[in-house]
Amino acid sequence: MPIGGIESVVYGVDDLDVSARFYDDFGLKAVRRSDAEVVYRLDEGSRVVLRHAEDPSLPPRHYDGCGVRETFYGVDSREELAHYAERIGADRELRWSGDGDTIHFLADGGIPLGLRLWRRQPVVYAPDPVNAPDNVKRLNQHRRWRVRAVPKTINHVVWRVADIHACFAFFRDRLDFRMTDYQKDAGVFGRPAAAAQHHTVYFQKFDALPPFTQGFDHIAFGVEDIDEIYAGWNYMERRGHRNPLGGVGRHRIASALFCYFDAPCGGMAEYGADTDYLDDNWVPRVWEARFGGFMWTSRVLPFLPEELSWEVSLDQSALPQGAIPVKVRYPAEPAVDSHG
Ligand SMILES: [Fe+2]
Repeated sequence: MPIGGIESVVYGVDDLDVSARFYDDFGLKAVRRSDAEVVYRLDEGSRVVLRHAEDPSLPPRHYDGCGVRETFYGVDSREELAHYAERIGADRELRWSGDGDTIHFLADGGIPLGLRLWRRQPVVYAPDPVNAPDNVKRLNQHRRWRVRAVPKTINHVVWRVADIHACFAFFRDRLDFRMTDYQKDAGVFGRPAAAAQHHTVYFQKFDALPPFTQGFDHIAFGVEDIDEIYAGWNYMERRGHRNPLGGVGRHRIASALFCYFDAPCGGMAEYGADTDYLDDNWVPRVWEARFGGFMWTSRVLPFLPEELSWEVSLDQSALPQGAIPVKVRYPAEPAVDSHG
């Protein structure tokens, strides 16, 4: 299989204890704690690793402040790993580690990435059915009582960058990512060929939204449904964590429910649920950035004081050049451009 989901993220943080307390409250399960690192493992087998910002194992900083310093995507065979190593290493430095099961390199835009041999574990979710008048899915059955959130998946990582097109082009041309939607002059959504979630990466033009700096923006984790998001928000707020958007909302692009928190380990951490899932029949759309960004929120956001006009298009000529995905040479086919 080509590249799948996110296997792990490695943070560089200023305060390991404070950062670990945040992710403990957030609902991640720690499997290792030492003075040097804290490792969380999610049910799908992915991991979040916290290390000191100056830990020599981390790649050099490529932005100011704390946050994710290296992101690893999973591939499920050594043959695939070797294939990508050859493609990526053709014109840039590439380092192997572990038992030959990991490669490290810099993507365009200077973003440190890795690929690692990894098989994602399927996660068993069973959200409560939703009732509506004359469409009863739960009879004599209440919804589960949530207490707090316990994320089971890593959904996506977001970077604020100067050139969203160059950054995405590397993922498309070297890692076989698909562009799934495009926010005009603001951002590009992408997913790997072997992952069906609407996006696992998003490149946001750094000056489109505060804080108007380049670097790590946020990481999103998957929870089961809207109740788990709200229960998680209440729990986090009681523990003193700040929700910068003042509540929960639903993105129009990807349909995903969201709830963000400022994270002391850098950037934000997001609970997400009910996102769209796609295959290669999906046609990327072109969105006015703010209209695509939000369908509703707990309170009216300061930068969305009025209802926006509906601006979305399937006009493929409005996509950035080269946005149409190149078919992967998979399995063992020569690379073929999708235009023939
Ligand atoms: Fe997000």
